[in-house]
Amino acid sequence: MSKKSLFSIAVVILLSCSGTMFAAKQIDTVKNKASVDSVKTGNELYVNKCKRCHKLKDPAKYTMAQWPGLVNKMQKRAKITDQEKAMILTYLATEAKNKK
Ligand code: HEC
Repeated sequence: MSKKSLFSIAVVILLSCSGTMFAAKQIDTVKNKASVDSVKTGNELYVNKCKRCHKLKDPAKYTMAQWPGLVNKMQKRAKITDQEKAMILTYLATEAKNKK
């Protein structure tokens, strides 16, 4: 094999590696943006749907071991869909007691 073809093989390998790295990074960014969006939406839902009957509960008053059960209990009262509930929980996870 000539030096030249060895070189082009190396270039191809390098390019394909950086290509996958770039793709992985992009997916990461999209994922992060999606979760930032659902935290924000979850926060808005929480503020809009959960203070109709009582003052807003401090998210830090309960742990994430407690919140899903509490929100389940309130789901019918607040008339929220499963998807809205999931977003509210995504938000609560960022503020809950003992959050990681
Ligand atoms: C239709 C009225 C209503 C809406 C809307 C409502 N709640 Fe409540 N919530 C209550 C009542 C009444 C209580 C107290 C009685 C009870 O605990 O069942 C309560 C109690 C709670 C408690 C304390 C429970 C406990 O066991 O100490 C939490 C936490 C709570 N609500 C969270 C929420 C969240 C989160 C939402 C929004 C998803 C929400 N609530 C929406 C009526 C409502």
